[in-house]
Amino acid sequence: MQIQKYFAPGRVNLIGEHLDYNGGLVLPAALTLGVELALLPRNDGKIQLSSPTHSHTLEIDVSDDIAFQTENDWCNYPLGIIAQMKKEGYAVPSCNLIYNSNLPEGSGLSSSAAVEIVTAFALLSQTTSRIDLVWLANFCKQVENEFIGVQCGIMDQYAVALGRQSHALLIDCAALKHDYIPFETGDYVLLIMNTNKPRSLVLSKYNERKAECEEALRVIQTTTSDIKNLCEVVPHAIQQITDEIIYKRARHVVTENLRVKEVIKTLQVNDLSTFGRLMNASHQSLAADYEVSGMELDTMVHAAQQVKGCLGARMTGAGFGGCAIALVHTTKMEELVNKVGEVYIKHTGLMASFYQTEIGDGVSALL
Ligand code: GLA
Repeated sequence: MQIQKYFAPGRVNLIGEHLDYNGGLVLPAALTLGVELALLPRNDGKIQLSSPTHSHTLEIDVSDDIAFQTENDWCNYPLGIIAQMKKEGYAVPSCNLIYNSNLPEGSGLSSSAAVEIVTAFALLSQTTSRIDLVWLANFCKQVENEFIGVQCGIMDQYAVALGRQSHALLIDCAALKHDYIPFETGDYVLLIMNTNKPRSLVLSKYNERKAECEEALRVIQTTTSDIKNLCEVVPHAIQQITDEIIYKRARHVVTENLRVKEVIKTLQVNDLSTFGRLMNASHQSLAADYEVSGMELDTMVHAAQQVKGCLGARMTGAGFGGCAIALVHTTKMEELVNKVGEVYIKHTGLMASFYQTEIGDGVSALL
């Protein structure tokens, strides 16, 4: 029987952090790093999940009832997809699914969304000739929300499904519409800097931030009932929020949404310096108002910002560890890597990793 291969990328977010679940604008880009899936059909009603980079493998019967179990480890992501397909009445084919990833896991580059999207795409491709990718992103987000239990927004799954080479993906998360913005950095490099910090708090803190935004929206709606999302709120309207913490969360959301709009203008005229300044402002807002950065990310970002030739740096993704990005002149990249690596290990005892970003395409079948 014939093996079929599929690929789904990871993603970075250029700007627009924690806005997707607030109905805002986000600007991610898909990476060339990602997850490759080999699908080998079988005809005994079983599905086997395995990966050469993980010791945990699993075999189930297509007819089994599937529930999330911590001990199933990474297999929970494909299992969630299979469970959701069955729930929605899609035929799930018997097969071996073999995952190969070159994406650092648990570092905020959306390895879980890549596994979800590539699994759903591969399984659905067995019976469907055309898969609507926005629908696919929503389908996988639902798995993350309901099966995995993370109340994430749509950004990661959307970027992994619909990214495009050399382009940033502007997503309007309220309208679920997107646009491609050419992203050419010329003499500059977009560098990914990994804190390699184990991310223990991310799940509970993420859901907490989402709840705080819902509270901010509830307060605003007491005076302006037709507002549906926090990102629609004009900056001065958040003054009515009396709780200091909730106010700060809302301030991040409304100012970050304005920064995304500014970035779009700067990219249209290739003004990378202003883009860099907006990256710095975004990080500052995420650290001080949204409080999702932390010592490791701050140390890394501030060290990068000190390097001459670095136009800007910020954390990317959910935060609490994970990765940051820096926009740096090609001739200064090595200096930045050395400097940040040195400062980072001195302050945190951890080794940083660095990857040069190459922007690739969203999910696809490989020939
Ligand atoms: C995680 C979530 C996304 C988004 C980002 C923060 O990556 O999965 O939905 O909320 O955090 O921007």
